[in-house]
Amino acid sequence: MDSIKVGLLGLGVVGGGTYKVLARNAQEIARRAGRKIEVTRVAVRDVEKARKLLGADILVGTDPHAVVRDPSIDIVVELIGGDTLARELVLEAIAQGKHVVTANKALLAKYGTEIFAAASARGVMVAFEAAVAGGIPIIKAIREGLTANRIEWVAGIINGTTNFILSEMRARGLPFATVLAEAQKLGYAEADPTFDIEGVDAAHKLTLLASLAFGIPVQFDKAYIEGISQLAAEDIKLAERLGYRIKLLGITKRRPEGIELRVHPALVPVKSLLANVEGAMNAVLVRGDAVGQTLYYGKGAGEEPTASAVVADLVDVTRLHTADPEHRVPHLAFQPDAMADTPILSIDEVVTSYYLRLTVADQPGVLADLARVLADAKISIGSMIQQPAEQGEGAELIFLTHEAIERNVNAAIVKIEALPFVRSRVTRLRMESLA
Ligand code: NDP
Ligand code: HSE
Repeated sequence: MDSIKVGLLGLGVVGGGTYKVLARNAQEIARRAGRKIEVTRVAVRDVEKARKLLGADILVGTDPHAVVRDPSIDIVVELIGGDTLARELVLEAIAQGKHVVTANKALLAKYGTEIFAAASARGVMVAFEAAVAGGIPIIKAIREGLTANRIEWVAGIINGTTNFILSEMRARGLPFATVLAEAQKLGYAEADPTFDIEGVDAAHKLTLLASLAFGIPVQFDKAYIEGISQLAAEDIKLAERLGYRIKLLGITKRRPEGIELRVHPALVPVKSLLANVEGAMNAVLVRGDAVGQTLYYGKGAGEEPTASAVVADLVDVTRLHTADPEHRVPHLAFQPDAMADTPILSIDEVVTSYYLRLTVADQPGVLADLARVLADAKISIGSMIQQPAEQGEGAELIFLTHEAIERNVNAAIVKIEALPFVRSRVTRLRMESLA
């Protein structure tokens, strides 16, 4: 059988890794796919740099549209990133009747609905395993492996850069900026690293996971997003003392009223599986009604781990290339006409427990007044510690609450900050037991 011809858009961290893995494991991959998978054409900005990596028989140019329009290309692999040119190229490839493989979560989280609809109408596949959690086959697991289940929630560490930063800050006491620079050098960070630090990249991925888990359209604009840039080193240390670690989590949960879709730092018990996921590793926990909890763990970023997912998609597309489009696995796990319009809940509706830290004057009646404000807001205190304030006079108080509605917690914080003996803002972090 003829080889399947691949046009590669981008030869950076992931594109370069994809090319290398395809070349190194060519025979093994062909044995699995049933035919050879061959990169025949590449588009980059810097042709000279690309030439150093590529075989002499591969056509390299600077015009990605030329690759997309090349009639000899069967599969277009989009590894340029961003959501402007990438969107144009992906839609053009689909219109040309070509299958697409992409690692671009930013693109799919924003334009997934349009792109998947266009692909279904044209009878082509858009595969995106590398877009979520790098090398971990989480999309395949949810879309195919867990298909018997009513999925209850998905929670995970789905950004390698921030997990690397939090791990290094905690374990080695390194400053934020130093660790971020290291993550960039290692190829983990996005072209714009604020996407990583501010939780946007994790929210892109979580948006896709929520669609796959619950059969809802991709709705990135409804995700609640809070990153790690405002996180104080003091809270990382205090969390450790209290038996927790702070992780940037993506959580999507089915509740009777709707679906929670949120990314934020959270305290997780130090003995939990997620607390022990360190460095650029990712981990995703999925709870299904039949299977219970399952855990997926592995490298969430970097050259070859991400290439592993891209190449797996290439093999899948190659195998299904000739299959009747009606009988392929739906892009978002559910049949397009069976998607649900379950509402996404606002962050005010979220129910979880909280860590609250504040500095107060050390005087009689303070605890009683604070306990009254919390009780009036229907917030039950799980435990509390008091220690001398790190700076100046007074006492620092840390409350760990039982589960409460976020709206009530925010209202209580406003009242607490207005009390005359309160000397700081209230630091509020969410806590997740993931039980
Ligand atoms: P890089 O910046 O390393 O690579 C981008 C590539 O695209 C480069 O080869 C660049 O060419 C090429 N490129 C950019 N603009 C153009 C253009 N106008 N025309 C032609 N080529 C162009 O990015 P990554 O490999 O890190 O990321 C690629 C995608 O994969 C992104 O969507 C990212 O979110 C996603 N991803 C990345 C992961 C990672 O660990 N890095 C993990 C999972 C997903 P040149 O080299 O000549 O400048
Ligand atoms: N910037 C992303 C991360 C790359 O750090 O997880 C993988 O998607």
